[in-house]
Amino acid sequence: MATYKLLATAAMGLESIVASEVKDMGYETQTENGKVFFEGDERDIAKTNLWLRTADRVKIIAGEFNAFTFDELFEKTKEIEWEKFLPVDAEFPVQGKSVKSTLHSVPNCQSIVKKAIVERLKKAYHRNSFLDESGPRFKIEVSILKDKVQLSIDTSGAGLHKRGYRVDQGEAPLKETLAAALVKLSRWTPDRPFVDPFCGSGTIVIEAAMIGQNIAPGYNREFDSEKWPWIGEDIWNEVREQAEEMANYDQPLNILGTDIDHRMVKIAEQNALEAGFADIIQFEQRQVKDFKTTEENGVVVGNPPYGERIGEIEIIEEMIQDMGRVFSKHPTWSVYILSSMARFETLYGQPATKKRKLFNGFIRTDLFQFWGERPKK
Ligand SMILES: C[S@@+](CC[C@H](N)C(=O)[O-])C[C@H]1O[C@@H](n2cnc3c(N)ncnc32)[C@H](O)[C@@H]1O
Repeated sequence: MATYKLLATAAMGLESIVASEVKDMGYETQTENGKVFFEGDERDIAKTNLWLRTADRVKIIAGEFNAFTFDELFEKTKEIEWEKFLPVDAEFPVQGKSVKSTLHSVPNCQSIVKKAIVERLKKAYHRNSFLDESGPRFKIEVSILKDKVQLSIDTSGAGLHKRGYRVDQGEAPLKETLAAALVKLSRWTPDRPFVDPFCGSGTIVIEAAMIGQNIAPGYNREFDSEKWPWIGEDIWNEVREQAEEMANYDQPLNILGTDIDHRMVKIAEQNALEAGFADIIQFEQRQVKDFKTTEENGVVVGNPPYGERIGEIEIIEEMIQDMGRVFSKHPTWSVYILSSMARFETLYGQPATKKRKLFNGFIRTDLFQFWGERPKK
């Protein structure tokens, strides 16, 4: 097996969480401009795709160099041994981005890279005619930052947030990768109760259940690199079988999702069923102000609506006040709320133990953390 320079891409704000996930899997990492680099072979490509919960994609760095002219871009792209990655029938769309660089026309850069790879492959495979691109897909990206070109191949295909359990989504679902990050940041362990009082389509509770039973998030989906001849089905099958062995379906979980809207509760139930947690996650239609429990040391994670319209904002402010009141009755519980509201702590009636800046798509938010009292020994 060969060793590749690999890259786990992360959404803005999640870089350090992705990096610690990659480290926890046993790799040495290097983080640069929001990208988490590590090294690995074919099996590692399959493993990281299957297991990373908070990364967007896993890519192979095919080449890196400086380029200031289109000629340079063409020649240096052609020097890369693309035939090591791409079979003669590979489909290889090229996408691009350029930031603070002399070569700033992205369409031109894309077509030059495409032409250079075509030329390289034709020579390597002794083809005079065109390449029909009828085979497996290799999405190529040319990314130029301050004249440094990075050429990468996407091993994931669809973004890793697509786990395959979302049947329906409602209005403002959280991306699965961010939901998993919230659960990780809450430091919840499967022996503690877990509640999302704004569960919407159920993303956070489903991600928590997958973490709780150690289920690989990518187990039920496909990846572009599964079809690549040099990785081979055997490796993927092996990595999937290992994941099946590592899953702990017997781990009891106490996970509850509630929402004011009964239609959302239905959607969440459908998604949980699809994810295989029909009997494991409980759902109820309930307002956050009616939260009650007799249990101790639980964890609440949720993202209430942020409120974009006037009128709506007043209702939401009242709800945050209710939330502060209701959770203050349970001092052993830890509460983690993702919100873009600047006045959140004032309304909640308590300063957060800690805040962490995160982006929900392009919306700047904070994860307001109210840590519970330490469990008595
Ligand atoms: C931003 S969405 C949450 C999305 C969810 N995390 C997901 O991934 O689908 C906010 C949810 O809060 C619910 N909600 C609004 N007011 C509420 C209240 N007072 N009590 C409980 N849920 C409420 C809405 O029905 C909506 O589903």
